[in-house]
Amino acid sequence: MVERATKEVGAVLVVGGGVGGMQASLDLADAGFKVHLIERGPSIGGVMAQLDKTFPTNDCAMCTLAPRLVDVGRHPDIDIRTLAEVTDVSGAAGDFSVTIREQPRYVDIDRCTGCGICIENCPVFNMVYPVPDRLEADLEPVDQARVDDIVDRYRGEHGILMPVLQDINEEYRYLPGEILRYVARKLDVPLSQVFQVATFYNAFSLTPRGKHTVNVCTGTSCHVRGSARILESLEQHLGIGPGETTEDLQFSLETVRCLGCCALSPCVVVGEKTHARLRPDTVAALIGECA
Ligand code: FES
Repeated sequence: MVERATKEVGAVLVVGGGVGGMQASLDLADAGFKVHLIERGPSIGGVMAQLDKTFPTNDCAMCTLAPRLVDVGRHPDIDIRTLAEVTDVSGAAGDFSVTIREQPRYVDIDRCTGCGICIENCPVFNMVYPVPDRLEADLEPVDQARVDDIVDRYRGEHGILMPVLQDINEEYRYLPGEILRYVARKLDVPLSQVFQVATFYNAFSLTPRGKHTVNVCTGTSCHVRGSARILESLEQHLGIGPGETTEDLQFSLETVRCLGCCALSPCVVVGEKTHARLRPDTVAALIGECA
């Protein structure tokens, strides 16, 4: 398809700035098309940017991703729009009109270097997480002791921010804003850096999460074997959608692209346990096991 397009001109819209979207953009731009790459998140790279290794070859994820990131960023015929979503598509093949909604950034995009220091002065952020008078002022003594204990586990080690956040996330089931502020001061790292890490990885949450996380695989293999109906059944049973948590903080529902056990599809992971070859009518029993 790409070879046939080499003599054509026009513009193409690629939706999704993951590794697939980036490669598609590069192929199309090299074939002569003007590409508009739309990404809902604040940056391109997708889930692969969060991985260390990739299944099944154990290749370094960043080694695969980084060259494409650079090529897409530098390509003169690729226009990247992040924090953007498609809201409407009309027209027919060869003559589409697409409406895109871009989220406000409140920064001058031409001058922004992505340093993140603006977060310290963001009025919205400071309204949500007010600056305390003293280091301990916004933490209960019990919380302060818990965080101090976690930090002490890694004291003296290099790059302890990540393991500290992982432990806090595990202990509280999310990353409370006042604790992140305390961690920033305690470790003497910029708050912007703490929030960059805290908001980059899907494993971290800034809102309270359920005791049990239900991950429904929506990868190709699970999809063709009915994962959509499994997800629908779970949504009905729990009364929440993907990315949400039940009011009693017992369950959080998530979707994931391929759990690496396609032979068992459709599958769902609850906590650490994988449940294979599920059917919509077995979902109730699955939830009942955890209750
Ligand atoms: S697609 Fe679901 S485990 Fe691979």
